[in-house]
Amino acid sequence: MKERLWEIAKAVHPEVVADRRWLHQHPELSYQEKETSAYIAQQLRKLGFEPQVGIGGYGVKAVLSGKRPGPTIALRADMDALPIQEETGLPFASVNPGVMHACGHDCHVAMLLGAARGLKLMDGDWAGNVVLIFQPAEEQGPGGASLMIKDDVLQNPDVEAIFALHVNAMVPAGRLGFAPGPMKAASDKFEIVIRGRGGHGAHPHLTKDPILAASSVIQALQQVVSRNVMPAEPAVVSVGAIHGGEAPNVIPSEVVLSGTVRTMGEPLRTKIREWMKRVIDGTVAAHGCQADVEFVSGYPAVHNDPEQTEVARRAARRIVPEEEIDVMELGMGAEDFAYYLEKVPGTIGRLGVAPSSGELFPLHSSRLRVDESAFVTGVAFWLALVQEACTAQ
Ligand code: NI
Repeated sequence: MKERLWEIAKAVHPEVVADRRWLHQHPELSYQEKETSAYIAQQLRKLGFEPQVGIGGYGVKAVLSGKRPGPTIALRADMDALPIQEETGLPFASVNPGVMHACGHDCHVAMLLGAARGLKLMDGDWAGNVVLIFQPAEEQGPGGASLMIKDDVLQNPDVEAIFALHVNAMVPAGRLGFAPGPMKAASDKFEIVIRGRGGHGAHPHLTKDPILAASSVIQALQQVVSRNVMPAEPAVVSVGAIHGGEAPNVIPSEVVLSGTVRTMGEPLRTKIREWMKRVIDGTVAAHGCQADVEFVSGYPAVHNDPEQTEVARRAARRIVPEEEIDVMELGMGAEDFAYYLEKVPGTIGRLGVAPSSGELFPLHSSRLRVDESAFVTGVAFWLALVQEACTAQ
């Protein structure tokens, strides 16, 4: 059976590469994936699917049932690109100025289309339904996942488990990785407006200096994690922007700081806001200033379901030896796959796509390169997963 899965994955590989290159050349930003969506639907129709389009924006869904009754699982690929000017020099580099598939979502779509092609060749040799979800707008809130869920993508048939793979351009091509539990962070933004009293830079005693207060707040915020959060629990507070002041000899009346908070979800997600607020208020008060603090919630944390992660690992063992399957490391990035996991159990794994030679560039780099041979493993994994998860109970 293992040989058969590899055979199918290799047979569809030229089409997977062709799809990926077309998608790579025609990247579209979040919420604007019109051509991408049309391309996906067109390929699916050519394969004999009757895709549902326009789900949660430009989302596409297709269902393929096995010969025997069984559970319903969903496989998800995200499809949007990033506002980055591509600098790879590839013959199929982006033709859309300032837009690039730098997060590998072109690979995700191509591999899921590859799975669709492969499943057709498997001729229904599984029990249950496979729902293919092509999701827009992963890179930008509120996130395509939440919008597709609102549009009932997980219903009819009712999805019982969901899976995704994200490529990683720093990991050797073809290496799969999985891990149960916390995997990606809840991502929240904050904005702090510090108000003082402006005045002449030569007469600081007549002012309440919000610049000095801001510098103290930035330092103090780094102690929120180190002095409040349990050391074994991952958390990050980063200030990413400071705006205040116009002239070298003027103390402004206001400074605005903004940044990001990453946690692995509740209860810390709420708790850390209280600690930050306390530290900010106390710090600015020491400078005679006041602060308004606002938090904006982003994606929730990704927690991979232990049971479904084991299903994914077993599927991987169907195609590669155990020692070639990694235990994935937790990352503080965000991923809107979290929204599906709030509804149904599932897991997101990763697939290495690093080229075997030359300099490596990480995801979101304008010079990102991937080894397309890894798509064979990606497609073989999807097929193995269908066999592993879709068995008669
Ligand atoms: Ni991504």
